[in-house]
Amino acid sequence: MPKLTAFQARRFTPKVEAAIQDLYSARINMDDRILTAEELSQAAKGAEVIFVSATEVVDRHVIETLAPTLQVIATLSVGYDHIDIDAAKSNGISVLHTPDVLSEACAETALLLLLNACRRGFEADHMVRSGNWPGWGPTQMLGHGLNGRRLGIYGMGRIGREVAKRCKGFDLEIHYHNRSRLTPDLEDGAVYHDTIDGLMSSIDFLVICVPGGSSADRSINSARIAKLPKHGVVVNISRGLIVDDDALIAALQRREIFAAGLDVFAGEPEIDPRYRTLSNIFMSPHMGSATHETRDLMGMMLLDGLAAIQNGTRPSNQLV
Ligand code: DGY
Repeated sequence: MPKLTAFQARRFTPKVEAAIQDLYSARINMDDRILTAEELSQAAKGAEVIFVSATEVVDRHVIETLAPTLQVIATLSVGYDHIDIDAAKSNGISVLHTPDVLSEACAETALLLLLNACRRGFEADHMVRSGNWPGWGPTQMLGHGLNGRRLGIYGMGRIGREVAKRCKGFDLEIHYHNRSRLTPDLEDGAVYHDTIDGLMSSIDFLVICVPGGSSADRSINSARIAKLPKHGVVVNISRGLIVDDDALIAALQRREIFAAGLDVFAGEPEIDPRYRTLSNIFMSPHMGSATHETRDLMGMMLLDGLAAIQNGTRPSNQLV
């Protein structure tokens, strides 16, 4: 059987790229530059499979341009807010993503951000690195501990539950808001709130794990941030648009909450420049799933899904 033609929009791990080269007649965007939607629709012309990531906008125009040959869009991400799923469906194109295999890595990133926000990781590193550390001090670099505090998880899907599992080890009391209440075995003792407002009024620290998409956009707004206590912390590992930047920046500037930990930003890789001026924030470059092991698993999951589709079965990671 001739190999299907593929276009790979970003560089993947060596293991995944070798497997793609083995199985497909693939062209690669070798310099790994993020392609615009227009560039993608030109570069991928003629492909039967496209491998993308959350950095590529696969909108209706891209899909309709590629539709004459395109069979599958495979995205190296759990999120799929960058893909027009309806357009894919109406053009008979399948979409694969990478749920589950990245949940642990993303939960670790939430912990990285939470600890750094609560314990002033950015300021601490800067003090030592800049040579301005005057020596140990009884009131130096005081932050807030996790134990005995209440953690709110907004979006208790697979990633949210991995965050909860790890945070129990820090003796945090787990609260959550989700579209619907989880079954008791999945809830595992966490306290359910049927509104975001109810959640925000009951917690010390917030971790945002809700999937990206317009219904959650800007749902963490000034009225809700105002419900957090003065030692409150906001952590976002989901999508930047879920937080109202003006509201969060104002709360951090006025010290109405203690700190934030952000891995994701609206308009990435640009960020609101005011974030750079704040010392009570720890930031990372959208690296939730960025471990060698996880990125291998994500890539191989796409290839397994593609093989299943070619064999006429529906893989668990197929969206449409
Ligand atoms: C995801 O998998 O959705 C991550 O945010 C990386 O894009």
